[in-house]
Amino acid sequence: MFNMRMKWQPLFYPAILIHLVSCVANAPTSSLCSPVGLALGSTPSSQVELIQKFQLTPSTPLATLDYGHEVAGYPWFNVESVSGKVQIEVKYSEEFSGLNNNFSDGPFSFAVGLANTYRVETFEVTETGSFQAYLIQGGQRWQSIRLLTSGIITFSSIGVAALNDIWKLGARAASAACVEQGTQKAIWDVGSDGTLVRGMRAANSIQGAFFEDYTLEFDAKIERAGFGWAVAHPFTSPTESIQLNLVGDLPEDTTFVNTNKSLTPPNSVLFGFGYSLINVMTLTSYRLDNFQVPFSIKENTWYTFKTVLSGGAYLSVSINETLIFNISLANYFIGGSSIPTVGSFGFGGWQDQAATIRNVSVYDTANQTQLYRNSMTDPNIVLPEYGVHENYASVCMDGAKRDRLVWLGDLSHTTRVIAASTSRNDIIKSTLQYFLDWQTVDGFLPFAAPLGYDSSSASTAFAFGVGAASGVDLYGIVLADYQILGLLDFANYISATNDLAFAMQTFPKWEHLTGSLLGLINSTTELVDLSVAFLGPGTGDDYGVSSMGFCITSGVANTTQASQFLSQLPNLKLGPGYKDSSQVSSNDSSINISPNTNGFLLEALLLQNTTSSSITALELMKSLWSPMVNDEETTTGASWEYVDLQGNPGLGLYTSLSYPWGGAPTYLLTEYVTGLQKAEGVRGYGYGSWVVDSSAGVAMGLQDSSARVVTAFNGSLSVQWTIEWSSMKGFIEAPVATSGIFIFGGKNVVLNGREDYTFTLSIT
Ligand SMILES: *[C@@H]1O[C@H](CO)[C@@H](O)[C@H](O)[C@H]1NC(C)=O
Ligand SMILES: *[C@@H]1O[C@H](CO)[C@@H](O)[C@H](O)[C@H]1NC(C)=O
Ligand SMILES: *[C@@H]1O[C@H](CO)[C@@H](O)[C@H](O)[C@H]1NC(C)=O
Ligand SMILES: *[C@@H]1O[C@H](CO)[C@@H](O)[C@H](O)[C@H]1NC(C)=O
Ligand SMILES: *[C@@H]1O[C@H](CO)[C@@H](O)[C@H](O)[C@H]1NC(C)=O
Ligand SMILES: *[C@@H]1O[C@H](CO)[C@@H](O)[C@H](O)[C@H]1NC(C)=O
Ligand SMILES: *[C@@H]1O[C@H](CO)[C@@H](O)[C@H](O)[C@H]1NC(C)=O
Ligand SMILES: *[C@@H]1O[C@H](CO)[C@@H](O)[C@H](O)[C@H]1NC(C)=O
Ligand SMILES: *[C@@H]1O[C@H](CO)[C@@H](O)[C@H](O)[C@H]1NC(C)=O
Ligand SMILES: *[C@@H]1O[C@H](CO)[C@@H](O)[C@H](O)[C@H]1NC(C)=O
Ligand SMILES: *[C@@H]1O[C@H](CO)[C@@H](O)[C@H](O)[C@H]1NC(C)=O
Repeated sequence: MFNMRMKWQPLFYPAILIHLVSCVANAPTSSLCSPVGLALGSTPSSQVELIQKFQLTPSTPLATLDYGHEVAGYPWFNVESVSGKVQIEVKYSEEFSGLNNNFSDGPFSFAVGLANTYRVETFEVTETGSFQAYLIQGGQRWQSIRLLTSGIITFSSIGVAALNDIWKLGARAASAACVEQGTQKAIWDVGSDGTLVRGMRAANSIQGAFFEDYTLEFDAKIERAGFGWAVAHPFTSPTESIQLNLVGDLPEDTTFVNTNKSLTPPNSVLFGFGYSLINVMTLTSYRLDNFQVPFSIKENTWYTFKTVLSGGAYLSVSINETLIFNISLANYFIGGSSIPTVGSFGFGGWQDQAATIRNVSVYDTANQTQLYRNSMTDPNIVLPEYGVHENYASVCMDGAKRDRLVWLGDLSHTTRVIAASTSRNDIIKSTLQYFLDWQTVDGFLPFAAPLGYDSSSASTAFAFGVGAASGVDLYGIVLADYQILGLLDFANYISATNDLAFAMQTFPKWEHLTGSLLGLINSTTELVDLSVAFLGPGTGDDYGVSSMGFCITSGVANTTQASQFLSQLPNLKLGPGYKDSSQVSSNDSSINISPNTNGFLLEALLLQNTTSSSITALELMKSLWSPMVNDEETTTGASWEYVDLQGNPGLGLYTSLSYPWGGAPTYLLTEYVTGLQKAEGVRGYGYGSWVVDSSAGVAMGLQDSSARVVTAFNGSLSVQWTIEWSSMKGFIEAPVATSGIFIFGGKNVVLNGREDYTFTLSIT
């Protein structure tokens, strides 16, 4: 558990427990999370008042709901009365300003995260009582409900059905990103009629990972508006995918009135490339063409769709044997290279669309050999194959709302945040096991494992499927530094928990990974060559916060080298923190500052154990992390992914405002400021032996600090120290089986044999 009191507490205390608990306490039942604030009007407003029962009418059509902090779950509505035609458009957003945006803060087309791809969702309400959205929203603070039609609706309550106890108890960013096995439900309904697919980023078949130049045939029946499908999607190159979308005739009586007919015109097939049909931040997408269907496509009617990729160059679509188009891909511009015809196929759709798919088959276009066949009626086959199965394991994802993949590198902060806060080390263990389940024959781990595919059938496809790096192990090339972070995560987990049984049981797999990393050592430089690294260039060239952080925290830099390296820090100062690379121009106002990498630097500063570096660390914490709590419209009470030079969310609305990789202060405050650490080496594992070093906290000018961690020795270890007048008073509670020392002003107090210790040291 996390608990800390300091003079500057309002700035840093993440208020995690308090807000989440109060959210739950306000809810009608203990498992529901309700908003705390409400504003009614015709536009979104952050000036909310206490939540109460509310009505939407044509003159007051919009409710803004504020949950007060990051929440997640299945959106849930309780309707007290409804009259006339009522369609409501619901938006979800972390940052308030998302509610003023057409697509809110989405869509999130990066991956199938077992959550709603879209942040805008429409409902037709015809009866009273409660209803729940089918798809989960991964993370939000704000929500709006807009009445689109002429009727009137009264809500008695609104909320999010909270998923598990972790979310109620944990440090917020890590809690929202760490999910228990089976809590993120399957997102397709598979039945005897076929598979019902709701609008989402297309989910692709693992069976197609090695296909090229094929013909895809399937039957589809529109349930609402239309559906999407993808072809030529290489698992090894997720930026690439041919995106197709069929829009039906959009009959007036069943079509939502907010259907965007300029984006999805009736009776047409849309052709795009990339993640989606629209661009979102860094996810480049091209909407390339729009083909009119020469007849009316009815809802609730089966049609046969045939998509042909041929000769590495052509794409055609036919509906019920009528050719809709046959195009040369070279005629479409996607910024340089031409559109490839390799990779898998899958199904999805635009916001609010839904369709049933069945009888999928794939043939080699040139020789007509059948490559694949699936009736789409068996959930045991369909769900794992398309990666839409409920989450297989308890895992920590990168963030609550977006990406929603199990990122290997991100786990390094998460592991330590959890050890210092919620102590749900069991989820770290199962996340580490999940990576090992995906380990390739070469020993590498996936840099970002998906939630809903079965590792035993999908691992090879993700690492070796056709695409950019065809034939070689992608994980040894792309973000290869994450492999090293994975080893650190394992070491950090073991030292936090003393779980030697897990260490022994999995050790051969970690050895295999280590051996593969040693294979990357360049015999000339004797340094590891990482082809494409996240934290900096794969070899040489520049310096930045990560290289400073890791050279120092690893112990590779000796004292002289560390202080020389840190003397260059002023060159990296930019906005609220330090920039990632010395080669980035400080004049570029679009640069984002990374709390992830600055977190590694922060530990290097604290490790120096000098007054000046402790003050620099304090200034960094204040400047980079206080923007995350100061602005009422952007704070979610959780740590952010990026911060821009003005202290706003760093990638605009797309940024995750609940991202554990930005949470380093959570554990660094415990470990260095209160100063509660494991002793070095094996004897410190699980806090069997511990050290409380108040030096940095005292250097920062704190007068009172406390922290608590859970040990591996039947109980927690809590520390409180206070400076009063001319003395330092300490109070420590610790399991009797553990022992430690308290360091202050050059004195070491040895503490053992008891369950609590109270002592006073005079300041000389
Ligand atoms: C929002 O949608 C409306 C209607 O489609 C359009 O006119 C407007 O330009 C859109 N706004 C932005 C910022 O795209
Ligand atoms: C409708 O789609 C267009 C793109 O064709 C987009 O610019 C606009 O913002 C969308 N409007 C709404 C209200 O979503
Ligand atoms: C489309 O073709 C299928 C057979 O492939 C047939 O069952 C269906 O009735 C046809 N649909 C229409 C609307 O013609
Ligand atoms: C599309 O056109 C190309 C080039 O003419 C041709 O090779 C291919 O067979 C056509 N595909 C279909 C399905 O007609
Ligand atoms: C298509 O699916 C229907 C319903 O499952 C089935 O009756 C029919 O035999 C299938 N057709 C083919 C060609 O597989
Ligand atoms: C047809 O093409 C597939 C590859 O798509 C290949 O595996 C198979 O051997 C080919 N069959 C014949 C008869 O050429
Ligand atoms: C090893 O590093 C040297 C110096 O950077 C470089 O020239 C050489 O290409 C590297 N060797 C390999 C096999 O990558
Ligand atoms: C640190 O390493 C450098 C380079 O090897 C060496 O010259 C220096 O003496 C070392 N300093 C200390 C304090 O060990
Ligand atoms: C950055 O701006 C300063 C002050 O305007 C200027 O002197 C310097 O040359 C600029 N540096 C670069 C790399 O543009
Ligand atoms: C913790 O307590 C249990 C039951 O009281 C005991 O069996 C176990 O040995 C204790 N573990 C440690 C590490 O003291
Ligand atoms: C930090 O510095 C103080 C003296 O200011 C010293 O007593 C303490 O042992 C140092 N801590 C570490 C971990 O080196």
